[in-house]
Amino acid sequence: MITKELLREKIEVLVDPTCNKTLKETGGIRYVGIDDENNRAILIIALDKKDLDVAKQFKIAITKLVKLDLGFKGLKLELEDLTPKEKGTVLDKVRYIGIASGKGGVGKSTITANLAVTFARLGYKVGLIDADIYGPSIPNVLEMEIQNPKGTADEKIIPFNKFDVEVISTAFLIEDNRPLMWRGPMLNKILELFFYNVEWDSDLEYIFVDLPPGTGDVALDIQAFIPQCEIIVVTTPHPTAAKIAVKAGFGAKQLNHEIIGVIENMSYFQNPENDHHELIFGEGGGNSVAKQLGVPLLGKLEIAQPKADHHSIFKTDEPNGLVYLSIAKQILHKK
Ligand SMILES: Nc1ncnc2c1ncn2[C@@H]1O[C@H](COP(=O)(O)OP(=O)(O)OP(=O)(O)O)[C@@H](O)[C@H]1O
Ligand SMILES: [Mg+2]
Repeated sequence: MITKELLREKIEVLVDPTCNKTLKETGGIRYVGIDDENNRAILIIALDKKDLDVAKQFKIAITKLVKLDLGFKGLKLELEDLTPKEKGTVLDKVRYIGIASGKGGVGKSTITANLAVTFARLGYKVGLIDADIYGPSIPNVLEMEIQNPKGTADEKIIPFNKFDVEVISTAFLIEDNRPLMWRGPMLNKILELFFYNVEWDSDLEYIFVDLPPGTGDVALDIQAFIPQCEIIVVTTPHPTAAKIAVKAGFGAKQLNHEIIGVIENMSYFQNPENDHHELIFGEGGGNSVAKQLGVPLLGKLEIAQPKADHHSIFKTDEPNGLVYLSIAKQILHKK
């Protein structure tokens, strides 16, 4: 007499032909049941790809196992597709660096874009996910044209490229900059798409993630999508920004995300008229956040616009460009 447990054991070692992993490894066994009356096995199995040939090949293998080897008279088999998350992607070998702040408007998107470009300049293969789903600004910061991305044959999104950084943002998926109201299942779908269904360069090494502001559920739900994410917390010198940045840091810790360090943005203004070092937004925010979170202060960025060419991306020989380079080196040496 074959029990459900034994049947499951036998099914688990079958190989999903598209990814060459066992069903135990893919997690593709959805249901195992036995209809005793009709001596029938009932199975619901998810496969890596619902490719017809693959499904046919797999059906033959499973029918042989159930009927010939295990002696069942009948088989009721349902096949479905694995979720993008289950399929996994190249992303296992990628380091995810999320940029969080708590308070909005402190320079998160500017910093995410500049760090990604700095890594690309250093020769690394870099991607950027604009996970600020409701206020996507990365295409604007990088001065990219808004256009719909193309898809691959197996429905993956092909990211755009700017400054050798591969970029994906909800700004590319909506028309006329209409505000988004995605919640619940729809939000999950879009995040699944962003984190697990993008056709990145297969040699990608780093993905920078512009996280949404806020310390509430939505911000944390989005962060929770990338379990292996390392976090950089951005603050200004101002106590209010610092207080919320600490809260964001503790939120990340709750998700077991490692915090790499803190960046203090808009630290000071080097007045070109008199060369005074002016502390426009006060001082101490960066150090205070770093101390409370027990991580290093990675750098302080001055209040400045890039000198030429681009309105947000600094060159490496400008003071902020040098700070970005120093921060990049600290991130690289972290692993
Ligand atoms: N160091 C800086 N010096 C001068 N302006 C800056 C600096 N950093 C950012 N800014 C400007 O401040 C504004 C907000 O920056 P940014 O959009 O990067 O912040 P954010 O934290 O991503 O905001 P949001 O919460 O809206 O996503 C932008 O206009 C940006 O150009
Ligand atoms: Mg932003």
